Amino acid sequence: MTTIRGSQKLSSLGGYAFAEVDKLVEELKGKGVSVLDFGVGDPRAPTPTLVRERGKTAIDEHATSGYPSYVGALSFRKAAADWIGRRFGVTLDPAKHVTATIGSKEAVFHLPLAFVDPGDVVVSPNPGYPPYTRGTLFAGGVNHTYPLRAERGYLPDLASVPDAVWAKTKMLWVCYPNSPTGAVASLAHFREWADFCRKRGILLVSDEAYSEMYFTPEAPHSALEAGLENVLSVFSMSKRSAMTGWRVGFVAGDEQAVSLFKKIKTNIDSGTPSFIQDASVAALSDETHVKQMRDEYKRKRDIVCGAFKKLGLPDCSPASTMYVWQAGPKGMSSVEFAKRLLDPSIAIVATPGTWLSSPQDGVDPGEGRVRLALVPTIEECDEAARRLARLAL
Ligand SMILES: Cc1ncc(COP(=O)(O)O)c(C=O)c1O
Repeated sequence: MTTIRGSQKLSSLGGYAFAEVDKLVEELKGKGVSVLDFGVGDPRAPTPTLVRERGKTAIDEHATSGYPSYVGALSFRKAAADWIGRRFGVTLDPAKHVTATIGSKEAVFHLPLAFVDPGDVVVSPNPGYPPYTRGTLFAGGVNHTYPLRAERGYLPDLASVPDAVWAKTKMLWVCYPNSPTGAVASLAHFREWADFCRKRGILLVSDEAYSEMYFTPEAPHSALEAGLENVLSVFSMSKRSAMTGWRVGFVAGDEQAVSLFKKIKTNIDSGTPSFIQDASVAALSDETHVKQMRDEYKRKRDIVCGAFKKLGLPDCSPASTMYVWQAGPKGMSSVEFAKRLLDPSIAIVATPGTWLSSPQDGVDPGEGRVRLALVPTIEECDEAARRLARLAL
């Protein structure tokens, strides 16, 4: 009998952090523990009625199935471009500057295939969404990360990356609103990064999956506001409209870069299902449900962060996203902090910060922290606060 072996690249990967979290939750539930699961960032609120209703009618409208358009129906791309126009004041040609994706994870993973040759460098944040580095790896590129540290407002220090690395760099990933730190970037930051990339022939790729989840008086900016040249922004319907299970997003920006990405995608998949695009058009036409979503996350943020503050821990209330990047007691490791929260009397599942980060320059930017995804209900957040009051640190 011969053994089927995975590829070297696949074998080089550790587990996927959130799959490990899922496993842990199942184990605890199996023991009859009433778990409050703040592990994986998957909204548990229902997809808004208007989106589901439009999805249903669209299924009948597409009675003859047929493959969808590779790049997205023009109606979907127009809805995305119009939304970007309303939200960020940026005018796009839907035919040239926008393409549909199968969720934004698909785009994040596949983008390097369009731009990276073996040995080219992709620079991304640490901690960061794992497909930034994994997509690079499978495209044959080389990863270089920059640390996100509290003392820098969780913003990149581009000067800390050696010039020799920049000379080989093809793509720079930024993610604001940032997962997992909840930081937001100003328009001046986006302009600085876009200028930096233009001077060096680098593509600035801005992950804006959380653009609509914010608690600041002013809505976060997009990299697209810094001009389209050398800039791509990656958007998702998942968090804005609780559509994680629908798998739909879009990429917008530099015409040439969008065109290259479209070309790679025609070789990978056959487009986002048409009825899902139609439902997304309905979702993009409505802001009421988005505001309700924001209000609910803000309430949950205040309950959970308030409870940690009462324990004497630093106030880590995020300015954006569904994540709390909570610092633990001084000197306690992130794994130990997560374990304390997992004590069956508390049973709060949080992801150790170090599962999302790697040591850099002798310091791991995730050390001492846990990430809580504010996906449980408000009642469950209240219960978490009651349990946290009993936590002995
Ligand atoms: C930073 C970030 N980007 C992108 C995504 C991908 O979202 P989706 O593929 O559902 O659009 C996620 C998902 O959690 C994320 O955290």
